[in-house]
Amino acid sequence: MPRPRPDQVQAHRGASALAPENTFAAFRKAAEQGAKWVELDVALLGDGTLVVIHDVTIDRTTSGSGALSDMGRADLDGLDAGSWFDDAFVGEPLPTLDAVIVELGELGLNANVEIKQHAHHRSLDQLVRTVQAAIARRAPRTEIMISSFDPEALRAMHKLEPALEMAMLWERPPEDWETQLAAIPASTIHMHYKALSIGLLKETSKRGIKVRAWTCNNPVQLMSFWDAGLAGVITDDPSLFLA
Ligand code: G3P
Ligand code: MG
Repeated sequence: MPRPRPDQVQAHRGASALAPENTFAAFRKAAEQGAKWVELDVALLGDGTLVVIHDVTIDRTTSGSGALSDMGRADLDGLDAGSWFDDAFVGEPLPTLDAVIVELGELGLNANVEIKQHAHHRSLDQLVRTVQAAIARRAPRTEIMISSFDPEALRAMHKLEPALEMAMLWERPPEDWETQLAAIPASTIHMHYKALSIGLLKETSKRGIKVRAWTCNNPVQLMSFWDAGLAGVITDDPSLFLA
């Protein structure tokens, strides 16, 4: 069966099938599995602290409750972002991106930083500058790429960091994907694996556009796409693809 190379596999929110998503434990697990890349989600708290979390509230993934917009850095103390997943992860903190970037360097992992669109992110400039400050702390060998469902976030980020790979997130790319990518500019599409087609991969390959598929946890479903030019997979369980 055709399989991706290790550098084509990104652990979605870390190895989130095996450890609580977007935590140090999930990133450590991804490294243990031999992953080279993790995908993680970032958002601002009300006081401008950049944290690694998927939702707009802490309800689902921590022991606490409330909206990110009502929180500040001090509210992270004592939060448990692990026990909802399994008792083995009690006490796992809800991390800042600053702290995660340092940890990734120690683990030898690269990161796909997904910038979330949230209504409380009123200043795009503040958001992208905070991301820029955090990734500036990366170890020299740590590679960073940026993804977002928000083309404006990618455009603003590209202005600050023109050398970074920008990936536009679409469930299914729109008809005018080429025009939309050029307007950012972005060189990469991250799309739902169920919307993949050989025809699309032919068109994107011709134009030098990379395509990665999320969030796929069954290698058989991507089998026919690697030879057609699929550039990568974002998965909750990297071991399935790295085996
Ligand atoms: O990067 C792909 C994937 O993370 C996008 O969706 O909701 O899991 O952040 P979501
Ligand atoms: Mg994500």
